[in-house]
Amino acid sequence: MSSVWGNNIRISLFGESHSELIGITVDGLEAGHKIDTDEIKIQMRRRMPGSSQLSTSRKENDDVKIISGLNAGYTTGMPLTALICNEDVRKKDYSEIQYRPRPGHADITAFMKYGGFCDMSGGGHFSGRLTAPLVFAGAVCRQILSERGILIGGHVLKIGNAEDEHFDPLKPEAELIKKMSGEYFPVISMESKDRMVTEIEKTASEKDSIGGIIECKCIGIPFGIGEPIFGNVESRLSSIIFGIPAVKGIEFGSGFSGSMNNGSENNDEPYYDTEKNIRFRSNNSGGILGGITDGMPVIFRTAFKPTPSIGIEQNTVDLKEEKNCRIKISGRHDPCIAVRAVPAVESACAVAFLDMLKEGNMKI
Ligand SMILES: Cc1cc2nc3c(=O)[nH]c(=O)nc-3n(C[C@H](O)[C@H](O)[C@H](O)COP(=O)(O)O)c2cc1C
Repeated sequence: MSSVWGNNIRISLFGESHSELIGITVDGLEAGHKIDTDEIKIQMRRRMPGSSQLSTSRKENDDVKIISGLNAGYTTGMPLTALICNEDVRKKDYSEIQYRPRPGHADITAFMKYGGFCDMSGGGHFSGRLTAPLVFAGAVCRQILSERGILIGGHVLKIGNAEDEHFDPLKPEAELIKKMSGEYFPVISMESKDRMVTEIEKTASEKDSIGGIIECKCIGIPFGIGEPIFGNVESRLSSIIFGIPAVKGIEFGSGFSGSMNNGSENNDEPYYDTEKNIRFRSNNSGGILGGITDGMPVIFRTAFKPTPSIGIEQNTVDLKEEKNCRIKISGRHDPCIAVRAVPAVESACAVAFLDMLKEGNMKI
């Protein structure tokens, strides 16, 4: 089982939704980085369940206990290990459906692969809860990146028919990114947020769930990060982002819609600015060419499927009795994952860029 990611900054996630605790070890951080633990709390609160009526009613404080790797506010160069307690555990909610896999969830694949030994209550190790330690790692990595002027921010771009404005692909929008990266439900246009909330509330009232798209932007990324062929930035980012449960798609720059255009529309023409820096007249590449960053903002969008657990009765199988049956899920769940997943996407991106920045072969 691989819950370990990274070449230079290696993260290792452990724990399950209903185990005593969950946590992470972040290995490879250099000594001497100042880490603000209040900033870590802000990021943890953004992802925390129960902080809004739009999220699951599971109540977790997500207070982080750092047991090694940080001393007097500075990284020590040793593995940084953090623990987060699971406080609001209700195994009972899952005992009745132990052998009845929830459609759309990992219950059925986990059962077939691990022969029923895997504790899937609350989603086990597959749970969105495991994004809490990822957000911890991201909160640390983004502070280190910000020392080098690299900022990462995301917003909810689309839920149902409600769509936010897109990031400006050319301008850095540093103030917007800073503002967003402290918000629970970040959007560019407040009016679109109201429409998104309406979509989520309507779906929740029907005991159903809804998917969504998150757009993420990274600024201050220098020319030259990433390597061909398999070390390219798109695949490194994608591999960690697909570690977030419920992610089903990712596109960079003009993405799928760009593939409908001609080269004359899609090519980003370079030019020298007044300081002789190479810039581009457009940013359809999303800041990545040949898998290598081109100094423009890196922009990508991540698609989240609708939450698998829904209150509507569905068809499933009884794995013990080996027969078809029905299932009605009474546990607690998020009607829309995409909202709470924004800090998880930003965090995965922060870990990936810190990891890639440490890669060799940089001539610049
Ligand atoms: C922040 C977050 C919260 C989630 N909450 C729930 C939930 O309440 N109920 C649920 O069924 N799935 C939830 N999920 C999604 C499942 O964990 C995921 O769909 C499942 O593990 C199957 O994996 P897959 O969708 O990647 O194939 C959540 C995911 C994330 C990222």
